Amino acid sequence: MIERLTCHVMSCAMVQLSTKTMRARACIRIKSDYRTVVLFLVVAVLILVLRNKTPCQFQHEVNSTIIVPRVSTDPEAHRGFCTLQPLSANDALEEHLLLDSIAWPEIPLLPALLSLENTSDPAHSTFTILPGRGGGQWHVGDQLEVIIKMSDFQGRPKTSGGDFLLVRLHSQKLGAGVAGQVVDHLNGSYSAVFSLLWEGDAQVEVTLVHSSEAVAVLNRLTSEQPDRIYFASLFRSGSISETTICNTCLRPTQQPQCNYTDLRTGEPWFCYKPNKLSCDARIDHAKGGYIQNITDIEKKLFQSGVNMKVYIRASGPAKVTVLPKKTGHSEMKCNSVKCGPSGYYYQGAWRALGGTTVQQFNISAISQCLKRKVVHMYGDSTIRQWFEYLNAALPDLKEFDLHSSRQGGPLMALDNANNILVKFRCHAPPIRFANIPTSELRYIANEIDGIPGGYNTVVVFGIWSHFSTFPVEVYIRRLQSIRRAVKQLLERAPGTVVIIRTANPKALTLYETITNSDWYSLQRDKVLRTMFKELNVHIIDAWEMVLAHHLPHSLHPQPPIIKAMIDLIMSYMCPQKGG
Ligand SMILES: *[C@@H]1O[C@H](CO)[C@@H](O)[C@H](O)[C@H]1NC(C)=O
Ligand SMILES: *[C@@H]1O[C@H](CO)[C@@H](O)[C@H](O)[C@H]1NC(C)=O
Ligand SMILES: *[C@@H]1O[C@H](CO)[C@@H](O)[C@H](O)[C@H]1NC(C)=O
Ligand SMILES: *[C@@H]1O[C@H](CO)[C@@H](O)[C@H](O)[C@H]1NC(C)=O
Ligand SMILES: *[C@@H]1O[C@H](CO)[C@@H](O)[C@H](O)[C@H]1NC(C)=O
Ligand SMILES: *[C@@H]1O[C@H](CO)[C@@H](O)[C@H](O)[C@H]1NC(C)=O
Repeated sequence: MIERLTCHVMSCAMVQLSTKTMRARACIRIKSDYRTVVLFLVVAVLILVLRNKTPCQFQHEVNSTIIVPRVSTDPEAHRGFCTLQPLSANDALEEHLLLDSIAWPEIPLLPALLSLENTSDPAHSTFTILPGRGGGQWHVGDQLEVIIKMSDFQGRPKTSGGDFLLVRLHSQKLGAGVAGQVVDHLNGSYSAVFSLLWEGDAQVEVTLVHSSEAVAVLNRLTSEQPDRIYFASLFRSGSISETTICNTCLRPTQQPQCNYTDLRTGEPWFCYKPNKLSCDARIDHAKGGYIQNITDIEKKLFQSGVNMKVYIRASGPAKVTVLPKKTGHSEMKCNSVKCGPSGYYYQGAWRALGGTTVQQFNISAISQCLKRKVVHMYGDSTIRQWFEYLNAALPDLKEFDLHSSRQGGPLMALDNANNILVKFRCHAPPIRFANIPTSELRYIANEIDGIPGGYNTVVVFGIWSHFSTFPVEVYIRRLQSIRRAVKQLLERAPGTVVIIRTANPKALTLYETITNSDWYSLQRDKVLRTMFKELNVHIIDAWEMVLAHHLPHSLHPQPPIIKAMIDLIMSYMCPQKGG
């Protein structure tokens, strides 16, 4: 069978398999009819090879075999294999409204013979500052409007929308920056609108993150390849070990599956059943690897410096000078769901809009604020960054060694004198970390259910970047269960402080884009904000805090941005008295 497959050369799949310490790549040519069989064979063979070559890495696996699922021959079985269990009528309605609210304008249907020539080219596109109501004069409190005109690589104006643009207004000299909002006119032109919040210089920056054609590829990948990041679990009993592939949705094969759907939250999770061992023998969870399957022309849509995260130039001036606020000037009316920016930088410090005064917290002020508090942090590595920051900054906060993995936790730090306890735990699957024991896999909702809460309790969570490869519905359901738990927590203990970190833009390579593009993050972020809008929770707007800052976009923002976030968290936890 393998011989027959390898001689029908049709397409090339890159399979990248990563373990804690090594990566292996294999490029195989396969006939598309047998793609899935080959895929699993390759994964299987690689795992087998890796394990045999490095016994020290896998010394606990005395007898390791990997399950190769047999693919069902029914083509129908593959269509929509990532459909979820039905929801209650209310939840289904909410899901429907959320999906509507993030519907992307004009996702183009990619022609079979897509040509780069016809796609959005930042080098041929321009933006222009409009004179506005003040006829070219702007005051603090006004809005600045910019029109962006997109063209393709041949310089022809685009006539459809859907490009993903990010905009900011900034002044390096003043340490100032604010994110703007983009409106897609669906005809190749876009408006960017900025709130003018400081006096003096203000420079417009427009970035094309992805062309509309690139967005179409990302959209296609989510519906066709929600398993492009896959996971693995080790099963062990006595001297027998087996490893199988796991995911939120597994392609149906004749290989039976183990159903690890969480009984309390209903979160789906499946692994192919090992041949010899029972489903109960699963002992760990890890990221398995990544399957890249896009065409060469599609790859050209994701070129750093060409058409991915590239600045668009101004057709005229890119800068304005903002005059002092006019007296008696009426504020602009707010007409969108999200009313203007959530804050801005000035002299390097974040100023929140909408009521909270952000104070600067030095080390002793942070200790003072945390005194007698328990801080529970849950989520991905962007939440762990906050744990690490506090741990490094506060000399009296000492980490207690729980012999757990650095990545997944649980981590715990104590300050006995001040009675401070800070804890971190990663969110459950689909977490892409290495080797987490199944006994340490906890869903955030279930963890929150176990917290009594109260004035000394702070719950902090952030969950986003590991959900990018799945349909948005998977994320919506995760948030529905977390929100249910947060609601109940705030009902039983209204004094509990709950802080939610949003997603943020990051540096993009081809791999990072396909597995975690800002486009995926943006959509999930909108869902998160909408779903928690009605609750008494505080949002750390990491999206705008990274976008507005002069430092480069990064999955793990640099220390000055983390400091600004910690100041904001502390300002929520310990608001100024009398203020
Ligand atoms: C790669 O993607 C194409 C187009 O979606 C699909 O037909 C093919 O089966 C995929 N190959 C693999 C190995 O998943
Ligand atoms: C591994 O298991 C297989 C099948 O049960 C058996 O034939 C083989 O001898 C075992 N190998 C070791 C090293 O235990
Ligand atoms: C790209 O543009 C050229 C010239 O306008 C046109 O002939 C061609 O059909 C277009 N190709 C696609 C794939 O749209
Ligand atoms: C695109 O649409 C906007 C808003 O309707 C309009 O102001 C603009 O003139 C249009 N541009 C083109 C090139 O048609
Ligand atoms: C998995 O288990 C859950 C919970 O018991 C159940 O609701 C669901 O139907 C099962 N899914 C499959 C595909 O068997
Ligand atoms: C820290 O800030 C507080 C005010 O919040 C101030 O009273 C104190 O002197 C500062 N401590 C140091 C070491 O700078």
